Amino acid sequence: MLQRDWRSPSGPARALNIADLREAARRRLPRALFEYVDRGAEDELALGTNRSALDRLKIRPRVLRGVAARSTEAMLFGRPMELPIAVAPTAVAGTLWHDGDVLSARAAVAAGIPYTLSTFSVTSLERVAQAAPGGRLWFQLYVSTDRDHMRSLVDRAGHAGYEALVLTVDGPVAPKREYNVRNGFHMPITLNPRLVWDVALHPRWLMGVAARHQLGTGFPSMAHPPARGVHQADPSIDWDTVQELRDRFPGKLLLKGILHPEDARLAASAGVDGIVVSNHGGRSLDAAIATIDALPDIVAAVDSRLPVLVDSAFQRGSDIVKALALGAAAVLVGRSVLWGVASFGEPGARRSIQILGEEIDRVMAQAGCARIQDIASEILWQRPS
Ligand code: LAC
Repeated sequence: MLQRDWRSPSGPARALNIADLREAARRRLPRALFEYVDRGAEDELALGTNRSALDRLKIRPRVLRGVAARSTEAMLFGRPMELPIAVAPTAVAGTLWHDGDVLSARAAVAAGIPYTLSTFSVTSLERVAQAAPGGRLWFQLYVSTDRDHMRSLVDRAGHAGYEALVLTVDGPVAPKREYNVRNGFHMPITLNPRLVWDVALHPRWLMGVAARHQLGTGFPSMAHPPARGVHQADPSIDWDTVQELRDRFPGKLLLKGILHPEDARLAASAGVDGIVVSNHGGRSLDAAIATIDALPDIVAAVDSRLPVLVDSAFQRGSDIVKALALGAAAVLVGRSVLWGVASFGEPGARRSIQILGEEIDRVMAQAGCARIQDIASEILWQRPS
């Protein structure tokens, strides 16, 4: 298929920031799908909590440091990555654009950063591994009541060469997202009159995604469904579950959804390889603390025993530099890459990573940091409250 050059001014290069890609995605996607990605939970306070905490934190730059030769290369698990970011697991990448899981993974590989595939992807973990050779692939795991299914997924991820298993720990029960109910939207996606009408109003998505799926594998559905077809979150998940996964999975084990320093300490003692400070992009516990506010105590609690990653609301290079200055090893970006893939496919996903990379590089120069290791808390300032 003819693909527009992603650098051409008529393609994704027109998008100058992540907000432009979000707007392009908003026009293309059925409303139910756009809102599923964009919105939060309950009163959607956590979205604002994350944003305002990041905005309150200011950069106090160092100058005259000779930053002509800069590098955004970061190290994680003893391996380099070209940017201090990784793609976060997001359930619907494969339904925003035809084959979106694969295209997002390829964009990450091309950019030299890790890609996390969601348990709820529409593409199997084996196919993504085949289609994105040489990539650093991580597999996100939800623990469902079907524990045998969970074990088989872990084994499959190990066999397929996934570098890491990212266990989501902040979903013991389903979050309360009222707009999804109103839109008639749930995972896995099933058609109903509301959704059919919504889709009919978005012909580019209908033709580009739904119709192509229909002709091929049928309407997009979960690639890793449990035996009974529907994922049931298992509220009994605990540290024994972590231990079982630690013993079972040969690669790195990360826990995603840690907000309390005591849990970070327990994670370090449990022998996990990394944690992701996350409030699920403001999509789960609406009263949750901002991740940038939770980060310093957690970094102190683990005391360099394992890398601390962070996510939720990072949409500018400056957001990412702030997290690194507080001790994060890397930042996971979810929606940003989804907006890219939803508007332009693989070139769009590449564009979103490129935008973030350029912004990180620019802010590093402005803050007097030539290398990622130079980014330290001395460049941060916050008005005492
Ligand atoms: C969500 C789940 C799938 O945030 O992680 O929708």
